[in-house]
Amino acid sequence: MNDEQINGAIITFFSTSSAVGKTLISINMASELARQGYSVCLADFDLQFGDVKNYLHLQAEHSITTLCDIIKTNGQHPLTPLLATYSYGHVSFQVVPAPAKLEEAYNLEPETIIEVVRRLRRQYDYIIVDTTSMFSVLNLALLDISTIVTFLGIVDFIPTIKNMKIGNDTLRTLNYDANKIRLVLNRSDAKTRINLQDVVRILGENFYHILPNDFESARQSIATGVPLVLSDHDSALARELRNLVGRYTNKGYMEDTPTKSSSWLTKIFN
Ligand SMILES: Nc1ncnc2c1ncn2[C@@H]1O[C@H](COP(=O)(O)OP(=O)(O)OP(=O)(O)O)[C@@H](O)[C@H]1O
Ligand SMILES: [Mg+2]
Repeated sequence: MNDEQINGAIITFFSTSSAVGKTLISINMASELARQGYSVCLADFDLQFGDVKNYLHLQAEHSITTLCDIIKTNGQHPLTPLLATYSYGHVSFQVVPAPAKLEEAYNLEPETIIEVVRRLRRQYDYIIVDTTSMFSVLNLALLDISTIVTFLGIVDFIPTIKNMKIGNDTLRTLNYDANKIRLVLNRSDAKTRINLQDVVRILGENFYHILPNDFESARQSIATGVPLVLSDHDSALARELRNLVGRYTNKGYMEDTPTKSSSWLTKIFN
C-alpha cells in the first residue's frame, strides 16, 4: 500500500435485479487488480445481506459499522488497520465487510459511508464497491463518487429486462460522463428464450462487455473461497473476467505479476 496520498479509482458494481453476479464479479475484479500489483480495497455495501465474507471464506473482526463509528466520533484513527485482509498465494487485498448483524445496517448513514470511501481512496489505487439492487440514497451517492459504474444485467426473465431498461435509462438521466457507465452482460449463454439482440434493441445500447455462463466454475469458486481469476482451474469465465479488468485498466490482460504500480491513476482521474 502507498503511504503517499493517492486518489484511487472507485469501481462500483450495480444492478436493478438481484443475483446477477455483482458480488462474484466485484470479488474477481479486486483479486485480478491485486494480482497485477495494485493496492485494492473491496467494500461490501450490501449492508443487510452482504456476501463478500462468505464468498471469500473470510473471518473479520470489524466491519463498515466500526469504520462509521470512527468517522462519527471524529476519530483520527487510521481506518486501514481495521480492514480485513484476503490473501491467496502472493495476492492480497483489503476488505470492508458488511455489518455482522443485519440490524446494524439501519444505523449507518449514507454520508458517513461515503466519507469512509473518501478516506480510503486516498490510500488505495482501487476501491471496488459491491452494492444492492436498488436506487437507494446510499447507492445514488456511491454512483456519484464512482469513477466507473459497472451496470450488470442478465437476460433471463422479462421482469429482469424491464428493470434493466429502467435502470439503464435512469443512469443516463444522471448525466454522468458517457464512459462512466459500463453496461455488462453476465451469464450470456444461459438457457433462455429471450433473444439477446431484442434486449440490445430495448436497451438502445450495446453491452460493453459480455461474461459467459459457467455455473460449475462459479459454484466451485464460492465453495473453495478462491476467486476464479486466482484459481488454477482455467475457465472461459475467468478469462473474460481478466479481460474485463484489462479493459478497465486500459492495459489488456497481463500475464505476469508486475512490480508494485506507481499511482498512475492519480494522474488520470484527478
Ligand atoms: N457468469 C456466471 N455463471 C454462472 N453462475 C454465475 C455467474 N455469475 C454469478 N453466478 C452465480 O450467480 C449467483 C449470484 O451471484 P452473486 O451473488 O454474485 O449475485 P449478486 O448480484 O451479488 O446477488 P445479490 O443481488 O443477491 O447480492 C451465485 O450463485 C453465483 O455463483
Ligand atoms: Mg451480492
